[in-house]
Amino acid sequence: MIKTETLLYDTIRPVSWHANGIRLLDQRQLPSKEVYLDINSTQALSQAIKDMVVRGAPAIGIAAAFGAVLAAQEALAETSKDFLADFNQRLDLIAASRPTAINLFNALNTARELVNTMRDPVADLLQWASVWLIDDIQANIDMGEWGASCFSKNTRVLTHCNAGALATGGYGTALGVIRSAQKKNLLEKVYASETRPWNQGARLTLWELQQDGIPVTLIADSSAASLMQQGLIDWVVVGADTICMNGDIANKIGTYSLAVLAKYHGVKVMVAAPTTTIDWKAQSSEHIVIEQRPSSEILPANYTGDLVTALNPVFDVTPAALISVIVTEKGVIESPDARKMAALIQ
Ligand code: MRU
Repeated sequence: MIKTETLLYDTIRPVSWHANGIRLLDQRQLPSKEVYLDINSTQALSQAIKDMVVRGAPAIGIAAAFGAVLAAQEALAETSKDFLADFNQRLDLIAASRPTAINLFNALNTARELVNTMRDPVADLLQWASVWLIDDIQANIDMGEWGASCFSKNTRVLTHCNAGALATGGYGTALGVIRSAQKKNLLEKVYASETRPWNQGARLTLWELQQDGIPVTLIADSSAASLMQQGLIDWVVVGADTICMNGDIANKIGTYSLAVLAKYHGVKVMVAAPTTTIDWKAQSSEHIVIEQRPSSEILPANYTGDLVTALNPVFDVTPAALISVIVTEKGVIESPDARKMAALIQ
């Protein structure tokens, strides 16, 4: 059961089912405009994920779960085709949108398995996807409690990217921990890094925390080292796009640099992510596919041709050895490794 008090505390819902389709808060337009888009086909959903209308690993997974409902609607309308083959092809289209957030594939693969046992695929998948959404919010609330329990009084936190309500069903992973810690009066300071090139920190994390009345200070990504050198940060708190079975993780580009800096300066690193972010088949980070986005997203428009180019990987890998704790809805894993990760399955 979600506590009413917590729902009142966080009302941001980036993905919902509305009027027989998916309603997405268009995150490209925040914080200037709060615009919702109605997505009524698997093709439109795939494009919306690619274009970052919806982003953040758990939110992408939830959108994909509702996408399975659209896939079932579309496949049923194609009476001349084999339902299962057509349904799976439409899920393949959604899967091709972005490669790094494992929640996308975990949701789609669960839908592929479940549909075989369903009598009424549209109604039953809708019921399942709605539970996937609610479970995500509940997981974040539980993670918030676990994560905050790691902090002492007057904790100073740096968070990177946006791992908030906007990146999930609601409440957030890293920002869920920050929300819970704020309620327990444990926070002295929250810093948010800009998170170039998409500026998820500057645009989205600031917008979210402002709505909740949680004070936050923006820093340029390159300021983190100096802040740590001055002893101004106790914890780096981030989300994840994939967690491997040895505790390696992938998250927004720049997370690895923060983890290396944190090790050097004796700052702790917390990765908060639900178990839907675990790739149960990936023994280590070698299996993670890092998304490369177009160079045009970072290269100024004056530079054309082959002489000046740009490289735009949008995620990086942080090895388990640099992570102090992984927080899931099941609890806190200190100094994560393969043995402790395997114990999560039991
Ligand atoms: O490219 P994005 O905005 O989808 O990247 C998001 C992140 O890297 C988040 O930190 C991650 O998905 C965890 S969100 C709870």
